[in-house]
Amino acid sequence: MKTIIEPFRIKAVEPIRMTTPVEREEFLRAAGYNVFLLRSEDVIIDLLTDSGTSAMSGEQWAAIMRGDEAYAGSRSWYRFEAAVRDLFGFRHVIPTHQGRAAERILFSTMCKPGDVVPNNTHFDTTRANVEAVGATAVDLPCAESADTQSQYPFKGNMDVAALEALIADVGVDRIPLCMITLTNNSGGGQPASLENIRAVRAVCQRHGIPFYIDACRFAENAYMIHEREPGYSDRRVRDIARELFAHADGCTFSAKKDGLANIGGVLSTNDERLAEQETNLLILTEGFPTYGGLAGRDLDAIAVGLQEVVDEDYLEYRLASVRYLGEGIAQAGVPIIQPPGGHAVYIDAAAFLSDVPPLELPGQALVVELYRAGGIRAVEIGTVMFGRRDPETGRETPGPRELVRLAIPRRVYTQSHIDYVIEVVAEVARRRERIRGFRIVQQAATLRHFTARFESLQDEMSRHVR
Ligand SMILES: Cc1ncc(COP(=O)(O)O)c(C=O)c1O
Repeated sequence: MKTIIEPFRIKAVEPIRMTTPVEREEFLRAAGYNVFLLRSEDVIIDLLTDSGTSAMSGEQWAAIMRGDEAYAGSRSWYRFEAAVRDLFGFRHVIPTHQGRAAERILFSTMCKPGDVVPNNTHFDTTRANVEAVGATAVDLPCAESADTQSQYPFKGNMDVAALEALIADVGVDRIPLCMITLTNNSGGGQPASLENIRAVRAVCQRHGIPFYIDACRFAENAYMIHEREPGYSDRRVRDIARELFAHADGCTFSAKKDGLANIGGVLSTNDERLAEQETNLLILTEGFPTYGGLAGRDLDAIAVGLQEVVDEDYLEYRLASVRYLGEGIAQAGVPIIQPPGGHAVYIDAAAFLSDVPPLELPGQALVVELYRAGGIRAVEIGTVMFGRRDPETGRETPGPRELVRLAIPRRVYTQSHIDYVIEVVAEVARRRERIRGFRIVQQAATLRHFTARFESLQDEMSRHVR
């Protein structure tokens, strides 16, 4: 059959409250035009993130009832440890409450001020955690990723020559680890190939640099290897995943993505001495090593989620639904990063709103417009998220790209929800000439996108005219 259907039936439903354009205008103003500050009940389709937003299966809810809440050595912990070890394969499994807690423990254990950490592209919390210990986060995406329209199948690859050059430039002693993010979220949700992972691994091994995977979306990456990389079409996804991890010395993982859970994370390593230091820090900040900031029931939900996420029928539907959204938007004449990623479609806001310069925040303008037109919540990945304001001069530097991400929560929305999103994007496209930019009027020193408040340049202009 041509139609790839959702491989599940719906057992519990969560009502969506419909809002009117007038209500949405009011909600936007009250939130300072920052969609992170909206109430979720005021959102019709929430594509802010695929993180922690998955619908759990009946088996996961059943596992939650089996959760063992003992402080130490619970049965839930042993089920969790076994599921993580079965797929990731590392000797030491350290549970954390989410991905960034694993990152904080990893970087504060491995890095010191002046160090340099290469990655295909750091996610925002990863970059912030590297920088929080005084190290520098360097992005080394492959050259193909710069061309948003190229159909190159592995745009999440790392630029191996650039990695070699970086090592030659700063010296091995300043590079305590090298990381690759699977899939490359900030670079468009694009996968890396096993060929590339092997090549990065070889460079790291030659220089004695530990190689880590940011494994948030390892299953989606593994499925795209299964679909696209020669020699892998008849390999099971779980085996491809195991092969990915076998090349690394450790990983960080947010179970809120490919753990199909609403909370949770993992830090894993083969290094005994490091694991001991990390565990000591875990006890200080997260909890005892057999729960690490999670309830026993969360550990159980993740243990089941890790088995379900490598199911090929699930992954075929997952990738097909993201592709369907991407193709629908592209057909409406809206430029997206091609090919659509594993968990999200990324609109090229700079190309879409070509009259709005980067420092007038075209991504933010589009995010606001999607909410205004149809109650859709998306996220800006551009100057708001990755630009910088010089604290001395107040001068802004734009981010590397102006993207708007429409992330699809796992197992939550049906095809008619996605059809609605395509319709709203097409409606916004019809009035794109009238869309104006924004400026930031309030911001925090780090991770400003979460709490910043904005003013519409249109409103500012009309105030001056008045
Ligand atoms: C690639 C990547 N790394 C790390 C994280 C951080 O995970 P968490 O949100 O669980 O802290 C995220 C979250 O979106 C991510 O996408």
